Amino acid sequence: MTNSAADPVLSVADLRVTFGERTEAVRGMSLSVARGETHCIVGESGCGKSVTSLAVMNLLPRGAARSAGHIRFHGRDLMGLSEREMARLRGDKIAMIFQEPMTSLNPAYTIGSQMAEVFERHRRAGRRAAMDRAAELLARVGVTAPGMRLGQYPHQLSGGLRQRVMIAMALMCDPELLIADEPTTALDVTVQAQILRLLQKLQQELGLALLLITHDLGVVARMAQRVSVMYAGQVVESGPAAAVFAAPTHPYTRGLLACIPVPGTVRRDEPLGSIPGMVPRIAPGFIGCGFRDRCGSAMPECAGAVPLRDAGGGHTHLCRLLPDATRAPGA
Ligand SMILES: Nc1ncnc2c1ncn2[C@@H]1O[C@H](COP(=O)(O)OP(=O)(O)O)[C@@H](O)[C@H]1O
Ligand code: SF4
Ligand SMILES: [Mg+2]
Repeated sequence: MTNSAADPVLSVADLRVTFGERTEAVRGMSLSVARGETHCIVGESGCGKSVTSLAVMNLLPRGAARSAGHIRFHGRDLMGLSEREMARLRGDKIAMIFQEPMTSLNPAYTIGSQMAEVFERHRRAGRRAAMDRAAELLARVGVTAPGMRLGQYPHQLSGGLRQRVMIAMALMCDPELLIADEPTTALDVTVQAQILRLLQKLQQELGLALLLITHDLGVVARMAQRVSVMYAGQVVESGPAAAVFAAPTHPYTRGLLACIPVPGTVRRDEPLGSIPGMVPRIAPGFIGCGFRDRCGSAMPECAGAVPLRDAGGGHTHLCRLLPDATRAPGA
């Protein structure tokens, strides 16, 4: 399959996810990821980042309902696919890695058999070829003595090594889209930096479309070409990472960035920004700005419908204020 920047690998339009009548966790999310591009979704805990990625993969928990204008992978709408067709794509052309490798690695099976199984299932390969492929990928992600590691169990590996195994496993079938949900959050800072460097290198070498989810603006500054800032189930600001960091326009993004004068210096597990208050839980049908209880610029009109405004150059924000107003010093 070929595609250009104009033909994104993943395109999501107006994605909504509800949990019963009281919670709309994702409220009209749109984004796209091009080949060779890292698009970061950033936002505080509870903003709907994981639910977004699970909705794309059709892996939402019981009780969740999704709807969307479309979720296109190379132009093909995934919304209409059966579970069987979706299962064929997962782990093959679309792969996902999670924050905690132990949720995806089975403690009862060796690394080799788990990696091989993915390849056997999607490629109808024999065990020998699958093991060779697994060893090759372990080496590629920087695991030394891959032959020996294939025979080990997940608990015999360190956290960093397990995350490398997860990445290798995700790459078994040459995915075109990799969705990584907080892949380094559980790791200590040095290992975190190594894994991010590895992801960046692989993304560039393989031309992956990488959708990287994080609550850490330092990770965004290091990795992203594009960024979508999520708040209470919506993208409140989106654009080229350089433009958003240079001149954030949404009050929420500005709040997040206010506590890190130099991008990249935020420490792991530090809460994002210093904005008082918490992410609200929002019910379906809610109108108005979800951030208004915490926004220093809130005005009565913010209780009404909020316009999506264009700041130019693919940079947009969802706010009553004009981008130029928020960019002005002291605004
Ligand atoms: N299994 C669930 N049942 C009910 N509500 C859920 C469930 N999972 C997530 N939610 C709701 O979705 C919101 C977003 O969750 P999530 O996507 O996990 O946030 P994060 O941005 O931290 O990844 C939560 O605040 C919660 O209200
Ligand atoms: S719409 Fe109003 S409350 Fe919401 S971020 Fe903009 S100024 Fe603040
Ligand atoms: Mg999450």
